[in-house]
Amino acid sequence: MLVFDSNLKLKTFLEQNLRLNQSVGFVPTMGALHDGHLSLVKKAIVENDLVVISIFVNPTQFNNKEDLIKYPKDIQKDIQKIESLSSKVIVFTPSADEIYQGKIESQHFNFDGIENQMEGKFRPGHFDGVGTIVKKLFSIIQPNKAYFGEKDFQQLQIVKKLVEKENLNVNIIGCPVFREKNGLAMSSRNERLNPAERKNAAMIYRALKMAKKEFKVKSSKQVLDLVLNVFNQQTQFQLEYFQIADETQLSPCIRKSKHKKYRAFIAVLVNNIRLIDTISLN
Ligand code: PAF
Repeated sequence: MLVFDSNLKLKTFLEQNLRLNQSVGFVPTMGALHDGHLSLVKKAIVENDLVVISIFVNPTQFNNKEDLIKYPKDIQKDIQKIESLSSKVIVFTPSADEIYQGKIESQHFNFDGIENQMEGKFRPGHFDGVGTIVKKLFSIIQPNKAYFGEKDFQQLQIVKKLVEKENLNVNIIGCPVFREKNGLAMSSRNERLNPAERKNAAMIYRALKMAKKEFKVKSSKQVLDLVLNVFNQQTQFQLEYFQIADETQLSPCIRKSKHKKYRAFIAVLVNNIRLIDTISLN
């Protein structure tokens, strides 16, 4: 399997090896690959002639130093996981210097307010970092399709906005959340949980499922109170936010409208490890 760590070498390889009408699928990741990532890669393999997977822990999207330092990294293990999938796959593992050319800074974006909700509120600068790296990677790889997991639903909407605003020629594909047996959404950060935390973190998805059930018959404020109450009754998991929002603007749902699609969004801290999840409500 081909592994590139240079922008120019990857770009040149793609230019020289792609025949007319051949398509490139792209799966951007920060490594510590799990089955959720692999499901994106498998989908990309089926839908494209070549697939590029990037593994790059992007410093500009971390507002919290400890989170960046402790982010799980094991490139050799990641490469082994990808290797067996298909010969169509190319891995891109650039350094921060290669990507940022010595200037580790984000571009500032206006994503029409989506960037100020939830993750944007609690992680200042996060979506500028995401927009910056995704734009840079798209410009190197020039994919036809790019695959993003719906666990980071707000990120998915941000990337769609980026494509619209910057007039980029790439099709953004959202893929369903992958869950562990107990319902916990798969995330690279789960590796940092101890066995008890990992087991008990099932309460996050349980709360989301309860929200989905209750949203059919209760107001969004009532659902909010129910979820707050669940988290108030224990001390292991601190609720950072729970928000019911429409899928396009991501602004809080005050009064339900029949014509809108809603989702519940949650962020929880356990022992300084941040977990997020989401569920579609209607
Ligand atoms: O979702 C992620 O892993 C990251 O935010 C992404 C899209 C790879 C950009 O660094």
